[in-house]
Amino acid sequence: MGEINPEFIQALEHRPKPDTTIEAENIPLIDLSSLHDIPPEKTDSLENLIAEIGNACQNWGFFQVINHGVPSNCRKKIESASRKFFALPKQDKRKISRNEINPYGYYDTEHTKNVRDWKEVFDCTVQNPTIIPASHEPDDTELKELNNQWPENIPELREACEEHAAEMEKLAFKLLELIALSLGLKKDRLNGFFKDQTSRIRLNYYPPCPVPHLTLGVGRHKDAGVLTILAQDDEVGGLQVKRKTDGEWILVKPTPDAYIINVGDIIQVWSNEKYESVEHRVKVNSEKERFSIPFFFNPAFYTMVEPLEELVNEQNPSKYKPYSWGKFLSTRKLSNYKKLDVENIQI
Ligand code: SIN
Ligand code: FE2
Repeated sequence: MGEINPEFIQALEHRPKPDTTIEAENIPLIDLSSLHDIPPEKTDSLENLIAEIGNACQNWGFFQVINHGVPSNCRKKIESASRKFFALPKQDKRKISRNEINPYGYYDTEHTKNVRDWKEVFDCTVQNPTIIPASHEPDDTELKELNNQWPENIPELREACEEHAAEMEKLAFKLLELIALSLGLKKDRLNGFFKDQTSRIRLNYYPPCPVPHLTLGVGRHKDAGVLTILAQDDEVGGLQVKRKTDGEWILVKPTPDAYIINVGDIIQVWSNEKYESVEHRVKVNSEKERFSIPFFFNPAFYTMVEPLEELVNEQNPSKYKPYSWGKFLSTRKLSNYKKLDVENIQI
């Protein structure tokens, strides 16, 4: 079996089971083509799309999209730059490690729920530089800048990340508007939260693991932001989603060129729990490496997150206290990653 650092070993109840027939089911697949070419008289195809998105958000918290409008060469470019980056020797990758001050860069010591993840990561902000309060307190008026760090020897990584981020942003706004409509809100109701967004692109690399039945690439977790748009490896699956009806882990089988969308904790709070942020995790395997590229669509650090007033009333009172997104981000950063679980701040 070989030696393995015990930091990576999951508790018995969280270890992945061998594949089963349960995995024959997949999350909903939604075709976005009606979004790009709806003649004005065909608004019912848009109505159908809004209903499909609403149902997927309510029943799964996850769905995949095809005909999303993101050019496939843009995705190929970032996938190939990512492979090139992770193939660098460790000492080169570590030259751009994230640190106590800057959360953007390379790292290979991520922990989820205090267990180490079998993966390497590169993070970059979409809004470069990101301006945040110097003390990380949202009401601090002294501001500082956080900059991306790029590897010297792969110049195309920066261009690929920036181009992909621009495409992800476009898609994210389309999805945000569809989600707003599906909640009975005005189409642009949520757009204003992203003026000074704290969105980021992440590159994940999961090396082959000699003991995949004992470890996870990413332990079970929910995403804390608004939406995640994930380009998962076209060939090597690994992402598992917790099915709401029975708590079974369902493998999301790769659909070439599709993006996987999930709602995060902020949509759960905004919608006063009509849509829930769903747990997911990543299995690794002993033979194949796996790559994935999530885009985390996150609001400005000064955003106070609370249920939207339109969605709260006497029969459906607010389930959450307001909380500051900036404060949340700062309390779970860096040295705190090991200590804090991302749990909702429910009353
Ligand atoms: C994640 O949820 O953090 C990663 C998803 C993936 O690699 O498929
Ligand atoms: Fe996630």
